[in-house]
Amino acid sequence: MKVLLTGGAGFIGSHTAVELMEKGYEVVIADNFANSKPEAVRRIERITGKKVALYPIDVADADKLEQIFREHTIDTVIHFAGLKAVGESVRYPVMYYRNNLDTTLTLLETMAKYGCRKFVFSSSATVYGDPATVPITEDMPTGDCSNPYGKTKYMIEQILKDAAFADPSLSIVLLRYFNPIGAHSSGLLFEDPNGIPSNLMPYIVKVAAGKLDHLNVFGNDYPTPDGTGVRDYIHVTDLAKGHVAAISYADQNSGVGIFNLGTGKGYSVLDVVNTFIRATGVNVPYVIAPRRPGDIAECYASPDKALKVLGWRAEHSLEDMCRDSWNAVAANPDGYPED
Ligand code: UFG
Repeated sequence: MKVLLTGGAGFIGSHTAVELMEKGYEVVIADNFANSKPEAVRRIERITGKKVALYPIDVADADKLEQIFREHTIDTVIHFAGLKAVGESVRYPVMYYRNNLDTTLTLLETMAKYGCRKFVFSSSATVYGDPATVPITEDMPTGDCSNPYGKTKYMIEQILKDAAFADPSLSIVLLRYFNPIGAHSSGLLFEDPNGIPSNLMPYIVKVAAGKLDHLNVFGNDYPTPDGTGVRDYIHVTDLAKGHVAAISYADQNSGVGIFNLGTGKGYSVLDVVNTFIRATGVNVPYVIAPRRPGDIAECYASPDKALKVLGWRAEHSLEDMCRDSWNAVAANPDGYPED
């Protein structure tokens, strides 16, 4: 069975490609390398010992996308491709709406033309906005997002729900990711953000590697046990396995399935820093800084539905995540090599 991964060279896409290929799926990757490198695809092939069909295209380009559907019988699309920097989305909202919505619409049109019925979407816990209570269940309200990036995720969910309502043969799975960190256990695949990272773990590993001076902990006056923000960090390999489970679900169900992919455990910024130091033996100097605008105090999943319906649960501990993040960075101090 062939699966098209848009954005398959990126952090979550590349790890998912490996998990799918290890389960016997054939993988086709479409990626414009806006925030990823071709080297990641070669490493997927090295880990699995199998070939990937790679198309270096923008999936909003309908002609180029169609070439993939002509050349391969695509059974399922997993749509990872998208712009995802919260701060950048506030500065360039039109670019975010154009890119993230266009790619999705072009995919849906092309899938319809070629009779492809299964679509798994990389959504985000950001669609819940500032949740009234935690843990967050899938039936809680969505849409009150504080930035254009989050709004694109919410809008795409609505588009996909409408598409599934109009065409009952479609099978759509919305996967709402919490905070993916960690790296492949081989140290070959990892998160490789452009420029200075804005997310916590990519920033921590740069401080640990001596490339940045210290971590700024954004706020220690939240109503949380130690005052710092609480999130549900999930190992990227666990997250990747959630996609394999989602494909099986899409095989057996039509309509829209919505699942949180998280561990169900909340850890504070200081929990992450202290666990990182313990797991790696490497120090991470930090200072307490003002709150970051738009941040919420606490966000963690109820992963119960994913366990009950998909039979999936996250297996890795926060220590595993810290160790794997660090091992990959230590083995690749300059990130993926350029071509
Ligand atoms: N943090 C710091 N210092 C930093 C970076 C982050 O203290 O340098 C803190 C944040 O304030 C927050 C926690 O670390 O409390 C996690 O921040 P991240 O930026 O790593 O992640 P967010 O929870 O803000 O956002 C992430 C993804 C979004 C996604 C969201 C879903 O980046 O794409 O989770 O909940 F929408």
